[in-house]
Amino acid sequence: MSAKTIIITGGAGFIGSHVVRRFVTQYPEYTIVNLDKLTYAGNLANLKDIEAAPNYKFEKGDICDTSFVEQLFEQYKPDAVIHLAAESHVDRSITDPLDFVMTNVVGTVTLLNVAKNAWKGAYDQHRFYHVSTDEVYGTLGEVGMFEETTAYDPHSPYSASKASSDHFVRAYHDTYGMDCVISNCSNNYGSHHFPEKLIPLSINNIKNNKPIPIYGKGENVRDWLFVEDHARAIDVIFHKAATGTTYNIGGHNEWKNIDLIHLLCSVMDKKLGREEGESAKLITYVTDRAGHDLRYAIDATKLKEELGWEPSLQFAEGLERTVDWYLANEEWLNNVTSGAYQQYYENQYKA
Ligand code: NAD
Ligand code: DAU
Repeated sequence: MSAKTIIITGGAGFIGSHVVRRFVTQYPEYTIVNLDKLTYAGNLANLKDIEAAPNYKFEKGDICDTSFVEQLFEQYKPDAVIHLAAESHVDRSITDPLDFVMTNVVGTVTLLNVAKNAWKGAYDQHRFYHVSTDEVYGTLGEVGMFEETTAYDPHSPYSASKASSDHFVRAYHDTYGMDCVISNCSNNYGSHHFPEKLIPLSINNIKNNKPIPIYGKGENVRDWLFVEDHARAIDVIFHKAATGTTYNIGGHNEWKNIDLIHLLCSVMDKKLGREEGESAKLITYVTDRAGHDLRYAIDATKLKEELGWEPSLQFAEGLERTVDWYLANEEWLNNVTSGAYQQYYENQYKA
């Protein structure tokens, strides 16, 4: 795929901002249009370093708004869409499932439909890349890994909405012949991660001497990937994947939540000059997440063998870089944890 103008949705969020930064800096000949509604999770401060780049444009809007999206296609005549905009937090989906149906399902179909009409007659020259999650596959037991052929079995409203959007993307490929590609990635970590998710929430709480809430017994397993490795995988898949294909992306880096938090506490003890074991005293077991998937693990062999991508960073180094970023960016953290997020936090972790 060679592209000139790409609309990246959700570019002000955690992963989206890393993808936008990568494309703006690696491909100065492209125009990158960041379409983002700026929900609580979207933050233009995530892109401060590249906002003045001549090949970067920001457009505030909602992917569910057909006339807005049509007007954007009319204005920019994009060669491709890389779609990341979503409601992304599982706990919020348990409280407000309809928000997830709106953005993740209706928003995705709105984008697909506008693209279908705008690109009619030239589908082979346009690409729709949908960024999805490993959570669509459901949960694993003690052994095994998710492969691209694993049957979908989502459990949370979030994963059900992402599974639905994946099905619609495939339907637009199979029915209309659009050039669509999907990737399903494991848990990301790194800078600019909103502090409602396990790693940044724990860093923030450890720093402020607040309890670290561990759901259930802390035995759930996630496969963690450094966000810049994910952005590089998206770059590779966007440019090299054949139409209609799906790739799993993962870190080959499984951690039980409680073991990960112990490692994080030890890194934080060193960084904050605390005695070893001090931060771990903050670990607090709380009520488990409803429908909590036990284990995710990604088999990313297809991506390695067909397109040559592999994760580049060891977890210990990635985690240390992440902690350093949060400790150096106190203002960013304070800004995103004020206001509406404070209200969400009180409700989520009330005794
Ligand atoms: P995020 O919540 O940090 O960011 C989502 C972005 O989408 C925000 O900037 C928000 O303002 C924007 N957005 C939300 N609703 C919108 C709407 N209706 N119209 C336009 N913009 C809207 O999410 P993230 O963690 O960066 O995840 C990005 C994508 O990657 C999502 O599709 C998610 O399902 C997928 N994913 C995330 C992970 C992970 O570990 N975070 C792993 C695999 C896949
Ligand atoms: O697997 C990919 C998915 O990873 C993405 O699709 C989602 O968008 C992303 O949010 C993430 O989902 P998780 O639910 O796995 O991430 P979260 O950080 O919310 O939780 C990680 C694990 O930690 C999970 O087992 C729940 C647990 N947890 C989470 C929080 C917020 C706790 O024990 N305590 C907490 O306070």
